[in-house]
Amino acid sequence: MRDDIQEILISEEEIQKKIDELGAQLTEEYEGRFPLVIGILKGSLPFMGDLIQKIDTHIEFDLMDVSSYGNELVSSGEVKIVKDLNTSVEGREVLILEDIIDSGNTLSYLVKLFEYRKAKSVKIVTLLDKPEGRTVDLYPDIAGFVVPDEFVVGYGLDYMERYRNLPYVGILKPEIYQS
Ligand code: PRP
Ligand code: MN
Ligand code: MG
Repeated sequence: MRDDIQEILISEEEIQKKIDELGAQLTEEYEGRFPLVIGILKGSLPFMGDLIQKIDTHIEFDLMDVSSYGNELVSSGEVKIVKDLNTSVEGREVLILEDIIDSGNTLSYLVKLFEYRKAKSVKIVTLLDKPEGRTVDLYPDIAGFVVPDEFVVGYGLDYMERYRNLPYVGILKPEIYQS
């Protein structure tokens, strides 16, 4: 698996250090507010799993599974809800956790959906931000790292469902997705 990676962009240590910082920041910000933290499957699974343990105040946690890429390289622009929330967002302070914002389609759709469902507030925390990929106006409230316009995988991010289990974020060798 390591042989498919051209370069490690963000090491396991860098990711975990950033998560400690984000956890401290969110603890301070959401103290006493009991936010509804929503992890977006599948990509954000490792990030959310690690981050929620570093938030040292009461939170409620729920999951939503959405997909806009399927196994395609380019976003279809159409977001499909594979599994909806179990919890109502009405009147809640929502905190969305994502692995990456690329075109912005997924989050733009979700923010509108949660506003339509009458959330009190909606904020976005993403581990990675790829601003060069943006096709819609969408800005995260908090981004861990800005990444270049390369094919990045690992720590939740996949290519054809592979590489999600890497503990770091790396650039995939072009020969893997060009063949
Ligand atoms: C990926 C990623 C984000 C989204 C970002 O998910 O995890 O959710 O795409 O891209 P965008 O800003 O262009 O919408 P994907 O749809 O591939 O599903 P997955 O998380 O199950 O891999
Ligand atoms: Mn995703
Ligand atoms: Mg994907």
